Amino acid sequence: MNQDQLKQLVGQKAVEYIKDGMQVGLGTGSTVKFMVDALGERVKNEHLNIVGVSTSDRTAAQAKSLGIPMKSVDDVDHLDLTIDGADEISTDYQGVKGGGAALLFEKIVAINSDRVMWIVDESKMVDQLGAFGLPVEVIPYGSQHIFEKMAAKGYHPEFRKVNGDFVRTDSNNYIIDLHLNPITNPHDLAEDLIHMVGVVEHGLFLDMVNTIIVGHADGPEVITARA
Ligand code: A5P
Repeated sequence: MNQDQLKQLVGQKAVEYIKDGMQVGLGTGSTVKFMVDALGERVKNEHLNIVGVSTSDRTAAQAKSLGIPMKSVDDVDHLDLTIDGADEISTDYQGVKGGGAALLFEKIVAINSDRVMWIVDESKMVDQLGAFGLPVEVIPYGSQHIFEKMAAKGYHPEFRKVNGDFVRTDSNNYIIDLHLNPITNPHDLAEDLIHMVGVVEHGLFLDMVNTIIVGHADGPEVITARA
């Protein structure tokens, strides 16, 4: 099985956890795209009655095109379950997210969910976080100074650009990726980053995930990370 097939496998497995009447957070990324496709099938074929809350414009457009009823996070009182991808998951089930620049909305939706599920192919499971650059969302104003402060702290920052242009998030902010490999103390790092003025949010998703579905060639593995 190639990586896309593993992503599809976990995407299809994840929608088994979505029940009638649920309000469901829909993450962002190539793995979630398979999950949203599978959810669209269930809505169409089983007339599953759910409400989706998107974490990005991309996912919202896909869900709407498949006929999945959608609401804004501010129009639901709570979310029953959020299903999202991840860039790295450590052996103690801490995560790095934001490779698709959607980390801010992903975190807002996740912290307002009763349960959080991550779906990944097996390459995302790592001994220690940090090989993947840690995304940090910053407001553009003053971002050069944040960048320099991060460099002075030894965080090895890099503005995310495509064809020389700054990548903009759905909130029109910039992303700075930190090359820290390895991240030895994610809680201390998270605390430091969130107190830097101009940082909107960082891609460390700590103590947050309940269930992880990992795609292996011989089938999906369901891990209970937190009850
Ligand atoms: C989006 O900002 C990210 O947090 C994604 O959830 C993460 O990058 C996983 O994406 P893939 O499923 O495309 O690997």
